[in-house]
Amino acid sequence: MNIILLGPPGAGKGTQAKRLEAAHGLVQLSTGDMLRAAVAAGTETGLKAKAIMDRGELVPDDVVVGIIADRIAEPDVKNGFILDGFPRTVAQAVALDALLAKTGEDLDAVIEMQVDDAALTERITGRYTCAKCGAGYHDTFQRPKIEGVCDRCGGTEFKRRADDNAETVKSRLEAYHAQTAPLLPYYEARGILKRVDGMADIDEVTGQIEGVLAGAK
Ligand code: AP5
Ligand code: ZN
Repeated sequence: MNIILLGPPGAGKGTQAKRLEAAHGLVQLSTGDMLRAAVAAGTETGLKAKAIMDRGELVPDDVVVGIIADRIAEPDVKNGFILDGFPRTVAQAVALDALLAKTGEDLDAVIEMQVDDAALTERITGRYTCAKCGAGYHDTFQRPKIEGVCDRCGGTEFKRRADDNAETVKSRLEAYHAQTAPLLPYYEARGILKRVDGMADIDEVTGQIEGVLAGAK
């Protein structure tokens, strides 16, 4: 099964993708995570991407399409993928269609996670992750069971993203509405766009997505 989670920054794409990975044996493909790994490794792509990401703008299409083309060809993606944060422009969606056509694969569902802009800022500015295993948390909505200790790996170090500040979030939301929202009619016309209420709590959203996937099989 191949699916896309589509939604604004902070909609819960990463949170739900990690749950779907565990439940369905799919692989999460997050271009944001891949770009942050390139930044941390100091690669040429990472050096170019860092300033753009810090401004909350989109990295050029050819860069992210190249990253996804390499990753999607790896053997562990054979059982299916969850795209998280890609495609983000119509040009990226067209490039993805061409990549999938080459391998004879198809998209089973594109799931739009709908969340109000006001809630997104609160979610993003309160977000942090475990430095060791990457598990996601939130100051208000998703705290570890034991304060300061990761539920998943027992790690005690946490980190916050450089672009998770109110000013950059504003640019990221603008980029979403101007460049990514046009993907909604693109996939709607293909009859594969489904919507879930991303304002609901995390478990409830997972339930809604499971409902969509049950119908898509
Ligand atoms: P990227 O890493 O993709 O960031 P994003 O789209 O801005 O999305 P986020 O990771 O911020 O949010 P999310 O939807 O995953 O939410 P999460 O689950 O963490 O991109 C970063 C940058 O990289 C871009 O700005 C761009 O520069 C570049 N880039 C990446 N891909 C690109 C591409 N394809 N083309 C060009 N440039 C690209 O949840 C957020 C918080 O809310 C968490 O703390 C979580 O615990 C909490 N939460 C989640 N669900 C709920 C809920 N239902 N209720 C309450 N709280 C919740
Ligand atoms: Zn951890």
